[in-house]
Amino acid sequence: MKETNGNLLSSQLLAQLTEARHVLVLTGAGMSAESGIPTFRDAQSGIWGKFRPEDLATPEAFEANPSRVWEWYQERRSKVLTVRPHAGHRALAAIASLVPELTIVTQNVDGLHQLAGSDNVAELHGNIMRSKCSISHRPISAEWLSDSSHSPPRSPYVSKGLARPDVVWFGEVLPQNVLQAAMDSALRCDFCISVGTTSLVQPAASLPLMALEHGASLLEINPRETPLSPHAGQCLRGTAAEVLPALLAQLRASKKDLDQRPRL
Ligand code: OAD
Repeated sequence: MKETNGNLLSSQLLAQLTEARHVLVLTGAGMSAESGIPTFRDAQSGIWGKFRPEDLATPEAFEANPSRVWEWYQERRSKVLTVRPHAGHRALAAIASLVPELTIVTQNVDGLHQLAGSDNVAELHGNIMRSKCSISHRPISAEWLSDSSHSPPRSPYVSKGLARPDVVWFGEVLPQNVLQAAMDSALRCDFCISVGTTSLVQPAASLPLMALEHGASLLEINPRETPLSPHAGQCLRGTAAEVLPALLAQLRASKKDLDQRPRL
């Protein structure tokens, strides 16, 4: 593994990215950090340093105290409504227009990739702005929620059901169609980029390794070392908002260079 403090991709990986047919990008909380959304496990600012996941992000926590869990998510929703995608989100959307196929698989629930213009996004852990019934798991509309004065609002479908955020909690299974699409991409891609994730939470953490086992090149973008780092062809030790625009610039130049090369 080659570790680089600057933003520059090695010539070998740049050549592989330039020729890639399908790029898979796995993103985690570090991708949204520079938009102002705290990560989960960073020492000073991480959400799980201030709150216990078992009090707020499990079905048992919701059953024990639905109002506390709902209110906590309402605060996080308010925060998400105030933030904007950064240069790294926009660079990923631009990279998608330079390669034949690019899939973003994100563990983030904030919708910032889509807001930046990316359209092929698999949300592995759901989306915090959506709500669903705690029993039937059917989607609940924003209109229904705004007409209710309860915290959380009751479900429109099941008498004992309540509205809950449409995110994956600890102990729950991921949406199977989304996970299947993510695994298909991991098996098919020829270049995989892991950005801003500790690579600790499964099954997301396995996707880059799956891609690697099936012949893809692997690039990690993260200021810190992770369990994935030893497997990566290169680790760029910078932030998403610094490194991704630099990667876009390198890829643009490399594609231009390839186009201008004389052909037989
Ligand atoms: P973590 O909070 O565990 O990790 C954030 C990672 O981002 C760390 O490796 C940081 O070094 C890195 N990082 C921080 N700032 C960065 C920046 N500006 N640019 C790039 N990288 C940066 O977040 P995840 O790995 O995404 O699950 O966590 C995975 C899952 O655990 C989350 O989706 C959530 C959580 O519990 C659920 O809620 C189900």
